[in-house]
Amino acid sequence: MVDKKNLRTPIVSVMGHVDHGKTTLLDKIRGSSVAAGEAGAITQHIGATEVPIDVIVEKCGNPSLRERFVVPGLLFIDTPGHHAFTSLRSRGGALADLAIVVVDINEGFKPQTIESLQILKRFKTPFVVVANKIDRIHGWNPVPNASFLVSYNKQAEHVQQYLDNKFYEVIGELFNIGFNADRYDRIKDFQHTIGVIPISGHTGEGISDVLMVLLGLAQKFLEANLQYDASGPGVATVLEVKEERGLGTTVDLILYDGMLQKGDTIVLGSLGEPIQTKVRAILKPRPLSEIKSEEKFQQVDKVIAAVGIKISAPNLDGALAGTPLRVATAETIDKIVKDIKQEV
Ligand code: GTP
Ligand code: MG
Repeated sequence: MVDKKNLRTPIVSVMGHVDHGKTTLLDKIRGSSVAAGEAGAITQHIGATEVPIDVIVEKCGNPSLRERFVVPGLLFIDTPGHHAFTSLRSRGGALADLAIVVVDINEGFKPQTIESLQILKRFKTPFVVVANKIDRIHGWNPVPNASFLVSYNKQAEHVQQYLDNKFYEVIGELFNIGFNADRYDRIKDFQHTIGVIPISGHTGEGISDVLMVLLGLAQKFLEANLQYDASGPGVATVLEVKEERGLGTTVDLILYDGMLQKGDTIVLGSLGEPIQTKVRAILKPRPLSEIKSEEKFQQVDKVIAAVGIKISAPNLDGALAGTPLRVATAETIDKIVKDIKQEV
């Protein structure tokens, strides 16, 4: 049995073509889980949303699952689908432990659907495909937030048939680019077959299935990778470099290993020599309940992986999105500078 305490939250990247419904899906996961109430708090991160395991399990309606899964939750990162953002998608893909590829079932595969899949193939990232917007199928009778199969079984036969046809087009497209795929409920071995789940980001149908399959993938493929030393030196990827009023240049990052503290010496990539600086402030979004507050961010002294945060520090001007950031000590700094220079 794996020690639960030292398993970090898997990072799940949401990818796919522009307007196919990535952000809506995440909003729904966030919204309906918030509505689900007591189970636990969804936390907003910079560039990410964390859904704790208790919320997922409650949403799936089966508390006994709590014992089966050892990950603490899932940290979702949204990525833009517009073709101009290849580097951002690639960054999201590189960072992900798992991914969701969103495809509009009515439109089928588009260039950035294929690009997303190629990124995941390159990084060997386990993923699930969601065939989104099933509520737009003519004659669809929504069963809000139901499991896909529950809803499917309540549809008229010609509606089921239409969905099946569209669905098998998606399976065919996946096959064309080298993936075996099938409907998620028919798969015995997720190692060799990609699960595809029909869903609606509007009605919530199928979303509990998506969460279940992701937990299953995390359990099967990631347990070993997710063990980490929460007190070890932080390792992160820079998502964005931004001017922030009153703070100067800041970097948004996803910390995926170890710990980061105020005052830590950090090294991060730039076009020239890697930047060496000290963390002045670690910033998180304010909880939704305090949204009235003038200040967008709250300061914390310390974070552990996996989290999305913003940091401010001197000399961040030349920082480069997509590059690594590491916490260094007097003993490790020379090697880290050399490694980061090479990686960039
Ligand atoms: P980019 O971030 O621009 O790549 O788009 P996206 O993939 O995040 O798409 P987004 O979630 O913004 O949705 C695009 C449009 O599709 C919006 O108008 C949504 O309301 C709509 N939409 C998303 N999901 C669904 C769905 O399940 N059903 C229906 N009917 N509309 C949806
Ligand atoms: Mg979006």
